[in-house]
Amino acid sequence: MKFEMSNRYTFEQFQQISLPEKSQFFSNDGWLFDLVYSQQLSRQLLDELYVLTNKIRLISKTTEGSRWLGSLLSSKKAMLYFIQPSTRTFLSFQTACETLGMKVSDVRSTSTSSEVKGESFADTIRTFSSYFDLIVMRHPQAGCAEQASFVLNNTRRPIPVINAGSGKDEHPTQGLLDIFTLKKSFSSTGGLKNKTIMMVGDLKRGRTVRSLCQLLAQFEDIKIIFSSPKELEMNPDLYQFLDNAGVKYEVTNGFVDWVPLADAIYMTRIQDEWDEEGDKKIDVTEWHFKEEHLKLLKSNAVILHPLPRRLEIEESVDNDPRAMYWRQVRNGMWVRVALIAHIFRLNRKILDR
Ligand code: NCD
Repeated sequence: MKFEMSNRYTFEQFQQISLPEKSQFFSNDGWLFDLVYSQQLSRQLLDELYVLTNKIRLISKTTEGSRWLGSLLSSKKAMLYFIQPSTRTFLSFQTACETLGMKVSDVRSTSTSSEVKGESFADTIRTFSSYFDLIVMRHPQAGCAEQASFVLNNTRRPIPVINAGSGKDEHPTQGLLDIFTLKKSFSSTGGLKNKTIMMVGDLKRGRTVRSLCQLLAQFEDIKIIFSSPKELEMNPDLYQFLDNAGVKYEVTNGFVDWVPLADAIYMTRIQDEWDEEGDKKIDVTEWHFKEEHLKLLKSNAVILHPLPRRLEIEESVDNDPRAMYWRQVRNGMWVRVALIAHIFRLNRKILDR
């Protein structure tokens, strides 16, 4: 299936086709093969992955269980191709791979790969596929994970590619862990249905909010509040997406007045690595969550952040039971173990144990 589809297109043509059609190209016999976009994660697949996540957590609680998990992919090797800075996501994937027994290698800069000798991106990726069974990649350029999957699915040795953050556009596994955290946080208050999620900070250049919104759109009666300075408002294409999906949202340049309305506040960092020459510094202190704001927040609301944090959330907020960002980090590792287990079709084996 994968081969037949890809052979009909050049990469330029492939980029133009609709997402549902592309998604077929990234799966095999109904199983996810590559995870490139958050929209590949259907509601059903999310539920399956979360059931698997919970089971894996349970199994790992005993020494025997963790040893068993570590035997599942012990003959497989993973390449973590992370040529954009990362601490959490890199270590999270490394630990997730190791939990299943995979051996892990990494390239963390193009300056140490043959790309400095002028090798093409496609050749670098094909080289990885000669040694490894999985590529996890973080790349500053949007669409790179898509290109890597396209290249490999046209070869005789396609190996799965997981997008661990591409440019300003996508970070599907962050979305996966954010939804997991939200669902867990709202498990005693009726789940995600009817909840108001407030996205705060650099909405223009942050990829995590985009991926999260695309997943949230699958849940009933969700409302999103986008709160940012004027200059950092979300790109209109995402509003278009939400309109088409029938999701209600509000856009504001305010912050404090909206806090009491939120069931979850998703704080983000200013992504100033994307600043261009001549851009003026934007004062974002008004969009910082301070200790004094805790009293405005609903008693059962939660505060999330993909991290790394700068000053967006005052450190004294960390001890409040509504602060979920450190739990997000831990959840991230487990959902990534489940994702890799799914890609290697271990669901039945794990659920039956
Ligand atoms: C985010 C990213 O890389 O997009 N970090 C992460 O993966 N947890 C957010 C950020 O860098 O601000």
